Amino acid sequence: MIRRYDGSKTLFYLDPPYWGGESDYGKGLFERSALQAMGEQLAEIRGKFILSINDRPEIRELFAGF
Ligand SMILES: C[S@@+](CC[C@H](N)C(=O)[O-])C[C@H]1O[C@@H](n2cnc3c(N)ncnc32)[C@H](O)[C@@H]1O
Repeated sequence: MIRRYDGSKTLFYLDPPYWGGESDYGKGLFERSALQAMGEQLAEIRGKFILSINDRPEIRELFAGF
């Protein structure tokens, strides 16, 4: 899905559930592993992104490559 919109001029804004708040919007709707998958997909994009998320050591580790 992300590839369809991706390009050198694309800016993605991501505002997923927070680390530790995965079920804030409904049980089973969002798994913590989705944050890992998000990092892997973002590493492949040609565009840029802004991600708003809570500042946790686990998040800094997960997104350390950015
Ligand atoms: C931090 S809130 C972002 C809210 C939005 N940016 C705003 O400012 O109103 C996280 C959002 O992710 C949505 N969400 C949770 N699990 C999702 C999923 N698996 N796929 C898509 N959206 C999901 C929730 O419904 C919630 O609206």
